[in-house]
Amino acid sequence: MSGALTQRALGVCYYPEHWPEAQWAEDAQRMAEAGISIVRIGEFAWSRIEPRSGDLHWAWLDQAIDVLGQAGLRIVLGTPTATPPRWMLDLHPDMLAVDVEGRPRKFGSRRHYDFAHRGYRDEARRITRLMAERYGHNRHILAWQIDNEYGCHDTVRSYSPAARDAFQRWLAARYQTIFALNEAWGNIFWSMDYATFDEIDLPNLTVTEPNPAHVLDFYRFASDMVQRWNHTMATAVRTHATQPLIHNYMGRIVEFDHWDVGRDLDIASWDSYPIGFLSDRLEASETHKSRFLRQGDPDMQAFHHDLYRAVGQGRWWVMEQQPGPVNWAPYNPAPLPGMVRLWSWEAFAHGAEAVCYFRWRQAPMAQEQMHAGLLRPDSAEAPGLAEARAVAQEMREMPEVSIGKAQVALIFDYASCWAWDAQPQGAGFDGFALAFAAYRAARGLGLNIDILPPDTNDLSDYPLVLAPGLLSLSAPLRKAIAAHKGRVLLGPRSDVKTDHLTIPLPMGPNIPGVDVTSVRTESLPPSETIALSGGGAMVSWIEELEGSAEVFETLADGRPAIMGSLYCRVLAGWPDAETYGRIVREAAHAMDIVTHDLPDGLRIRDTASHRFVFNYSADPITWHSVTIPGAGVHWADK
Ligand code: GAL
Repeated sequence: MSGALTQRALGVCYYPEHWPEAQWAEDAQRMAEAGISIVRIGEFAWSRIEPRSGDLHWAWLDQAIDVLGQAGLRIVLGTPTATPPRWMLDLHPDMLAVDVEGRPRKFGSRRHYDFAHRGYRDEARRITRLMAERYGHNRHILAWQIDNEYGCHDTVRSYSPAARDAFQRWLAARYQTIFALNEAWGNIFWSMDYATFDEIDLPNLTVTEPNPAHVLDFYRFASDMVQRWNHTMATAVRTHATQPLIHNYMGRIVEFDHWDVGRDLDIASWDSYPIGFLSDRLEASETHKSRFLRQGDPDMQAFHHDLYRAVGQGRWWVMEQQPGPVNWAPYNPAPLPGMVRLWSWEAFAHGAEAVCYFRWRQAPMAQEQMHAGLLRPDSAEAPGLAEARAVAQEMREMPEVSIGKAQVALIFDYASCWAWDAQPQGAGFDGFALAFAAYRAARGLGLNIDILPPDTNDLSDYPLVLAPGLLSLSAPLRKAIAAHKGRVLLGPRSDVKTDHLTIPLPMGPNIPGVDVTSVRTESLPPSETIALSGGGAMVSWIEELEGSAEVFETLADGRPAIMGSLYCRVLAGWPDAETYGRIVREAAHAMDIVTHDLPDGLRIRDTASHRFVFNYSADPITWHSVTIPGAGVHWADK
């Protein structure tokens, strides 16, 4: 494919429209001198490209691309559809998304559009096509970024009239007859039957909870709107451009199915803000948050690296990497010296083709003026730049790493996250958090993990498969699990509902040859736990398992905690972190997988040729006779 990277690269996000034209050449030169070879531009520049509807100003962008390209930089060109200019609202006053409380989400920041609004979608396709026509064969363009961070700022689910109309059309296409929909949702309950599709409203502002099947279908619909949007824009670019297409996904955004979106793109990328995420979007104790305050959670980045490597079918980047304090979390500490380098190498160790820092120079104006760049607002070097430079130097010395298959697979399903959100049953039950807990348990043992989609049909490469929280198993996955000659740890809360979020009959899980049924569920407040006979405890979630299959471990009160067959074992509850680690360790050892006892804060990642050791703690750690400084990274041939 044209423009494909052949080598790891560093990049940076740059906004030529924020700076005088006279400064561009010097900026470009400084980037190149620092060892940066990729620059992403354009993704918020619509009002400068088209200040009034139809009044197109390309000259400045032509010039910016030329200046950056002349300095040897390769450009990722962002399409600007995440920031429709103010005039767009005059053309389409009803294009704004509406929140769950029924309030429009107004102009004045970004992502102020509804994915289902046809008028705005046509405008977005138009500007995307115009850009692709103009730059689709430009030799400086390495790749395209479509839009920016789908779903950021809670923008997938909109309760607007446009969304309602589109939802009705979507339901009609899915169910064909209203009878089928009433049956599937169980609408006889509380006399909720509909006579026609156009009677169906969006599932917000109901007196008490709406039918969870209604909610889940709305969430599916909202995800499909993102996929269709992206497909439309990707098609508009592909028709005129030869370069590969990328989207920059975010951390812990699960409201749309990234597997679906990824199929329309060539490369996945994500925006990695380790310190922001630790304080902003991770359940963890205050002790943990304080210990990793300036480093970020030791597993959060790796989880997303592995996830997006899979979403990109092997090709993935970090499109934005935190280079210093951010502005958007409740509190915004600076990274420990060394962390920018550590995060960069961690991405490469997981197979990233590129790591791009956000942003080149800190902006002195507007919303993100407190967000660090590689340069300060006065153009002096900020601390992140020296670390980027060090990484660039090391990359020249360090051979490419090749990523082999992991021994552990984790199956991750977005629709299950929506289902548990629609019907949590225990406050705080969260599909992402459960999958992340399983990931953490394996990674804490020094294991590499591959994340797989829920329609996976072959597990044979993986001696250990973790399958927590999967709403209902897809037909290929059910078959693959039944046939697998490795250990599958299914559950908790896997295969216990239908696709319509109803209880299947016979009740699940339904794995051929494994007689285990989950017959009753209890959820627990955070203060309560239920001990296991083998030590540790279940928290939050416990299922009562029945059946003739063997019981391998019990709760202290005698109920089964793990039961199943030699290969497929059902986990009855959500174990606390240490217990999850123990259970995964036992499963790994049963499959002859070697695990490691890692000191707190230390993580490893094996590539085909090297072992990388990352010290997320602030203090030096000695492991296997090697001392890794706090916030340091070490690698050695295997
Ligand atoms: C990302 C976004 C960037 C910038 C950055 C600040 O979510 O894509 O445009 O806002 O966060 O950390």
